[in-house]
Amino acid sequence: RPRVFSGIQPTADSFHLGNYLGAVRNWVTMQETHDTVYCVVDLHAITAGHEPATLRQRIRLAAAQLLAVGLDPDRCTLFVQSQVPEHAQLAWVLNCITGFGEASRMTQFKDKSARQGADRSSVGLFTYPILQAADILLYQADAVPVGEDQRQHLELTRDLAQRFNSRFGPTFTVPAPHIIRDTAKITDLQDPTAKMSKSSSSPAGIIELLDEPARSAKKIRSAVTDTGREIIFDPEQKPGISNLLTIYAALTGRTIDDLVQAYDGKGYGDLKKDLGQVVAEFVEPIRQRTQQYLDDPAQLDKLLAVGAEKARAVAAVTLREAYDRIGFLPGV
Ligand code: TYM
Repeated sequence: RPRVFSGIQPTADSFHLGNYLGAVRNWVTMQETHDTVYCVVDLHAITAGHEPATLRQRIRLAAAQLLAVGLDPDRCTLFVQSQVPEHAQLAWVLNCITGFGEASRMTQFKDKSARQGADRSSVGLFTYPILQAADILLYQADAVPVGEDQRQHLELTRDLAQRFNSRFGPTFTVPAPHIIRDTAKITDLQDPTAKMSKSSSSPAGIIELLDEPARSAKKIRSAVTDTGREIIFDPEQKPGISNLLTIYAALTGRTIDDLVQAYDGKGYGDLKKDLGQVVAEFVEPIRQRTQQYLDDPAQLDKLLAVGAEKARAVAAVTLREAYDRIGFLPGV
C-alpha cells in the first residue's frame, strides 16, 4: 500500500470546514486504500506565539476532532509531533541543505511575517516549511493530502528530498501532493475572495466543527453573496454563491450541476436556508463525539502514546539512514 502522511496544526479550539473539506475528509477516505500516518503538528503551533495551557488543551481537542470525524486508530497511525523527537532532528539536517533565499520565497511566511512585522516573527516561523518537509520525508510518504495553500510547501519538500538524494545517495521518497481540486480552497463566508482561515478570518467567516449547530446555520444564512440573483457556479464572477455550492455539494454528495438545476428560479435565501440546515446536521454529531473523547483525557493520551510509538518505529529508521548518509558516526 502506498504511504500517506499529513498534518494539522492545533492553533485553534476548533477545526473549520476548510480544514475538513480541503484535507481531513480525504485523510479519512485514504485509510481504506493507503498506509496512513496523521499528525497533530504541535511543534509548528509554537512558531507564532502561544499560551501553554491553551496549547495543551488544543492538542487534545485536535486529536479528539480527528477521531470524531472518522480517523480510526486501528487503521491509521495518529500521533502528536512533539512525542516523536525525530521530526526536530531531521528538520535540522534539512535546514542545512535549504537556501536562505529559497526559504525566503515561501509565500505563507511572507504573508504572516508581513502581518506581524519582521521583528516579531520568529525564526521558527521562517523555517516552518522545512520542519514540514521533515515530517513528510521521515515516513517515506508517497502522497500528502492537503489543501491548495500547502502546494508551495510540498514543492519545497520535493526539492529537498531530491537534493538530499542526489548529494548523499537515495534516502527519501519524493512525495506528491494530493490536492482535490473541487474543495482545495474553501473561502471565507464574509470575504469569499480569501480562504477560510484559522488565523485571519473573522468568526463570522468560518464554520467551526465545534460550533453550536444553530450558530453554524446562522453563519451560512449571513454569508456574503454576490450581486444579481441567479444561482450559478462561477467562482470568478460569483465567488460567494460558488463557495456555498461547493460546500453544499461536498457535504451532500450531490453534484454542482444537480444543485444549480434544483435551485433554478429560487433565490439566494432559499439556498442559504437549506445549506444552513445541511451544515447544522453535519456538525452536530462531530461536536458530540469530540466531547466524548475529551471526557476521557487519560484514554486519549494513551491512544496517542501508542500512535507515537508506531510512528517512531518508522521515523527512527529513516533518521538513522539520513545520519549515516551525511557522515555522522553510528548511533550509540
Ligand atoms: P493547517 O493546520 O493550516 O491546515 C490543515 C489542512 O487544512 C487545509 N486547509 C484548507 N483547505 C481548503 N480550504 C481552506 N480554506 C483551508 N484552510 C486550510 C490545509 O491545506 C491543510 O492541509 N503546514 C500545514 C500543517 C503541516 C503539514 C505537515 C501538512 C505540518 N506538517 C506535513 C502536511 C504534511 C498547515 O498549516 O496546515
